[in-house]
This record gives sequence, structure tokens and C-alpha cells, in this order.
Amino acid sequence: MFAEAHIAADRRLQEFIGRLKALTSIPSVSTDPAHWPDVERAAAWLTDWMRDIGLQNVQTFTRGDYLPLVYGEYLGAGPNAPTVLIYTHYDVQPAAREDGWETDPFVPEIIDGKLYARGAVDSKIHVTAQLSAIACMMEAGSPPVNLKVLLEGEEESGSEHIFAFVAENPALLKADVTVVTDGSMPDPDQPVLVYGLRGLITGELRVKGPRRDLHSGHYGGTVHNPAQVVAEIVAQLHTPDGKVTVPGFYDAVAPLSPDEREALSGIADAVVDEWRKNASAPRPWGEAEYAIHERISARPTLEINGISGGYTGSGFKTVLPSTAFVRFSCRLVPNQNPDTIFAAVKAHILSLVPPTVTAEVVELEEGSPGFVVDRHSAPMQAVRTAYQKAWSAEPLWNRDGGSIPVVTAFQRHLDTTIVLMPFGHKLGGAHSQNEHIMLQSFKRGIHAMLYFYEALTSPDAAGDA
Ligand code: BES
Ligand code: MN
Repeated sequence: MFAEAHIAADRRLQEFIGRLKALTSIPSVSTDPAHWPDVERAAAWLTDWMRDIGLQNVQTFTRGDYLPLVYGEYLGAGPNAPTVLIYTHYDVQPAAREDGWETDPFVPEIIDGKLYARGAVDSKIHVTAQLSAIACMMEAGSPPVNLKVLLEGEEESGSEHIFAFVAENPALLKADVTVVTDGSMPDPDQPVLVYGLRGLITGELRVKGPRRDLHSGHYGGTVHNPAQVVAEIVAQLHTPDGKVTVPGFYDAVAPLSPDEREALSGIADAVVDEWRKNASAPRPWGEAEYAIHERISARPTLEINGISGGYTGSGFKTVLPSTAFVRFSCRLVPNQNPDTIFAAVKAHILSLVPPTVTAEVVELEEGSPGFVVDRHSAPMQAVRTAYQKAWSAEPLWNRDGGSIPVVTAFQRHLDTTIVLMPFGHKLGGAHSQNEHIMLQSFKRGIHAMLYFYEALTSPDAAGDA
């Protein structure tokens, strides 16, 4: 069956690329209510395709003000065969040509073997490669693995509803293995075995000074300027050597064991190389005792995501602003509790507020913890085999720095072994301008899934690449 499925994948590649183009041309921006009809259109497009492929029980969950969660399954392999739950998301971040795109973000274009479009890498390459692989197996006949597909439409906007959905539907989602397919590799030709992601908390400091904006000539020198206060506070949140100053911030951090440092050392060069090309800041910054790839994955951070206050429009205003704001977030690592860390950050920031202003700190989204999955599970072996065969290269261990909040819900409510399978690459510019994928990665991703299912269902096939 698998041999025929691989042949089908090659024969139907143009069709699947066409599907990827069709999906990326739908601006399913979940963060913008004006685009919610497009999110629904993308969900309908997906359910049509899933029915067409032959999946059963295909439906969307839209209870209350959900953006649709798309679900479909194939249970034809029977109760003794393994069941795999596939999770990824089909919503995307906002994008506009004026942001500096060279093509229209929602008119996918193929240039030099790359497909440019918003959502190409985050995460429609994964949605499309997963469904394509299933289509090839269904065409080849009777896949020996049960499949459940769960596609979220709210991942980029805080995953508000999927937590309750997972908690309430453990039977529907019951699976031996859960494949979280999202994220990216530092080098598109060097496959990675991602076994951890960081968590996230988000907050805002709001500083208020004078009753309203003031003439800086009338009052400058007598009023503690809120924009200045924000700068004074922000400047105290890190030490010169890159540590977060919040008391207790590092208390629970799971240390990197020598064994793990060793496992991760293989990816160091690829990460630094990618950093130079993509981050391309004048020089690196941060905790000197940790290598770049360790800082990105296994160390927590406090980032300033935006500062506002005062006048920066055209012309000039000698104004003393009444208010100023700073938005911040922390990437968390295993053992750090999001609520504890938020409370510690909030208390620390408030302790730095001078009596010349008033201030509050609010949490913006529900926090999520960092996690690692078992590197030595049997499904992880199947992932290794899949990448070995599809990429014709030995994969390297990696932990990634981004966050996929729903994984915590899978860990909490589903008795399942989780693996992560990214097909995109970091230079692909997720959330950024000119987002793109290598079509080669898309093709490899489809084959990787076929090799994964094969390794999972015939243990002899695992490890013999
Ligand atoms: N695809 C990313 C998650 C990701 C990024 C995984 C990098 C691995 C490496 C996901 O779509 C995302 O952007 N998540 C957000 C969190 C969410 C709560 C907005 C993130 O990480 O900022
Ligand atoms: Mn994203």
C-alpha cells in the first residue's frame, strides 16, 4: 500500500501544489474580525477536500463564537491498528503588500521553486501536506492506520476555544500518537527532531501621569513624563549580561542536562548560520553561558514587544504625554508555571513604578507552559525514520523557541504520545514579509508522512533507513 501511495504522491504533486495555492489564497486571518468570513471559507474549503479524500465524520465545530475547528477521521484500519491524531492550524497572521511584500500576500506565486504567500510556512504547508499524504494512502487503498485530523482556526489569535474542546472531547480525539505538525527547521535540507517548545505569557504595563497631554514648555521639568517612566522601568528588567531581573524568574527553570546539551550540540552551527542570515542583527546578545541554540530553546526570556506613548506622527509636537504603554511577553521553559511567572513579573514591574505616576499591569492572553516530549518514545523513532527517508539525511535533535498552546491540553486530557513534525524552514519568514516555503519541503513532507505511517504500523520498517 505504501509503495503505491508514494507513487501517487509523485504523480499528484502538481494537484497538491494547486491545493496549497488555493488554500493560501484564502486570507484566513483569525486576528481580524473583518476576515472571519474568510476563516469560515477556508474551513468549508477544507471540509470539502476532506470529504473528497474519503474521510468520515467530517465536520466543523463552531459552538458559540468559535472560529471553526475542522475535524475528520478514517477508522477503517480497525480497533487493533494504531490511531494517529494530526493537529495543525489553517488560520494565519495579518499581511498586506504595504508591509513590504514583493508579491501580494494572498495571491500565491511560485518563484524559483518557492511558493510565496501568507500562511505558506505557518502553517498551510502542514495542513496541505498532511491531507495530501492521507489522500495518497486512501487512493492506494485501506491505510493500516486510523487517522483523526484536527485543524484549528484560532491558533494565531490565542487558541481561545480549543482548550475546552479538547477537555470535553477526549473520546473523539483519542489516539495512540498525536502529531503536532507546525514550526520549522533552521536549514531546509537538514531535518530536525523537535522535542520541545517554549510557553508564553503576555502582558501590558499602562502608566498614567498628568490628567491630559501637556505643553512641555508649561510643565516640562515638573511632571514625571510617563514615556520616560516606561523607559526607566523597561531599562531595569534585564542585567547588562542578559538576565531577567524579576525575582524568582529562574527558580523553577529545568536545567539543561549534560546529556541534552550533547544531543542538541549537533544543531548549533545550523542555528547560528540561520541567525546570521535571518536575524542578522549586528551581533548576538543574551546569556553568554548558553549557546545561541540553547538561548532560543531552553532558556526563558522577557521581551518588549512594543512601546507607545507621546507623539511620533508627522511634524513635531512639544508634548508631555499623559499616558504610555509597554507590551511584553515571556517565553517560558519546562517547570516554569505561567501563572506564577506572570505574578512575579507583575509584582516586579509594579515595584519599579515611582510615586509620581499611577500604573497597572494586565495579562493579555491566557499563558501556556513550555514543554518537552519523550525523545525515546517509539513514535519518535518513526519520526526519525520518516525524515531520514524523505530528506535522505540524518535528522538532528532540536528544541524550538515558539509556542503552540494547545499541546498542553493534549498532554493534560489525552492519553497520547506527542511528536512534533515541522516541514517549513525558519528563513521562510513566518509572521513576516515575503513568507514562503520551498516546494521541495512540501513534497518531502508528504513523503515523510507516508514513511512515518509505514514505520508506525510495521515496526520492522522503523530504523532501517
Ligand atoms: N507556528 C507557530 C509556533 C512555532 C513557532 C513553533 C516557532 C515552533 C517554532 C505558531 O503559529 C505561533 O506563531 N505561535 C505563537 C503563539 C500564539 C499564542 C500567538 C508564538 O509562538 O508566538
Ligand atoms: Mn504562527
